[in-house]
Amino acid sequence: ISSGKFKVVEVGARDGLQNEKRIIPAADKIELINRLSKSGLSTVEATSFVSPKWVPQMADHKEIMSKITQFPGVSYPVLVPNAAGLKNALATGNVKEIAVFGAASEGFSKKNVNSSVEESLTKLEAVTKEAIENGLMVRGYVSCVIGCPYDGNTEPKVVAQITERLLKAGCYEVSLGDTIGVGSAGSVRKMLDAVLSVAPREKLAVHMHDTYGQALANVLVAIEKGIRVADSSIAGLGGCPYAKGATGNLATEDLVYMLHGLGFDTGIDLTCLVSISEWICTKMERQNASRVASAIIAN
Ligand code: HMG
Ligand code: MG
Repeated sequence: ISSGKFKVVEVGARDGLQNEKRIIPAADKIELINRLSKSGLSTVEATSFVSPKWVPQMADHKEIMSKITQFPGVSYPVLVPNAAGLKNALATGNVKEIAVFGAASEGFSKKNVNSSVEESLTKLEAVTKEAIENGLMVRGYVSCVIGCPYDGNTEPKVVAQITERLLKAGCYEVSLGDTIGVGSAGSVRKMLDAVLSVAPREKLAVHMHDTYGQALANVLVAIEKGIRVADSSIAGLGGCPYAKGATGNLATEDLVYMLHGLGFDTGIDLTCLVSISEWICTKMERQNASRVASAIIAN
């Protein structure tokens, strides 16, 4: 492992909040995004232009994108599932980057976007093309790269095929999502070997949920394979509405602590992150899922 730059993609305001039953006021989400922007993060995923009937917590996407402060040097990607979502995102005039999302399993695809894997890829290829024509950057996600809550284990070669499709469609980077956090070092290594046989490491990111407590180890496997981008959420917030029992992503504080220990330059101020983490957990009346934040706060 060599040191150097490492990009952390903060997904707390989107992945972290989308599964919350209680609707969080837009003002709190805006404050969260603005605070995160001041911690040195270069990417703060802000919201989703998905159907409010499917994910009510993200129904305030327009307000979020019109009221956050967009700090120089920070990107604010938003999730877009279809043409309607892209149209709404473009109408705000404030969206410069979107994220499209596909899955490596049929069961999850059907539950998450009401389409088969193939139908969903066809739609997102069209959305990606239109977004690029409109000057936007497009990031891709593949969900269920290790396992699916409906279909069981995922074949690594399927993940590789979908990653290739997303890159070919024009995504500048593909984030490999262990949506339900069932991966461990062995299965993640196999999956990454398959993907790395078709895609360069510079175009890959990992998105590890921490359901089984393996997320940090799984990111370390990705680092050993040369990947230098990982997604995480402040205080480990989150869960997926269409993946029962899935916990939040790896906590950003835990990831940053490990990265700094390895000698990576993230540009992120850990002390600042911990204060945001403490603030959001108090606000949401929830226990902090970050071990690092809990330890720093206790000491
Ligand atoms: P559908 O019901 O098949 O859509 O849902 P439809 O095209 O038939 O439209 C139904 C209604 O929704 C219509 O309204 C549309 O106008 C409206 P009505 O005529 O009934 O009044 N509609 C929309 N409204 C606002 N924005 C839109 C939109 N599209 C349609 N974009 C759809 C299909 C894709 C829309 C739906 O399934 C959906 O929104 N799914 C999103 C689910 C989601 O957000 N999941 C979480 C994000 S993915 C994730 O968390 C994984 C990730 O973190 C990586 C990992 O961990 O693996 C990224
Ligand atoms: Mg996720």
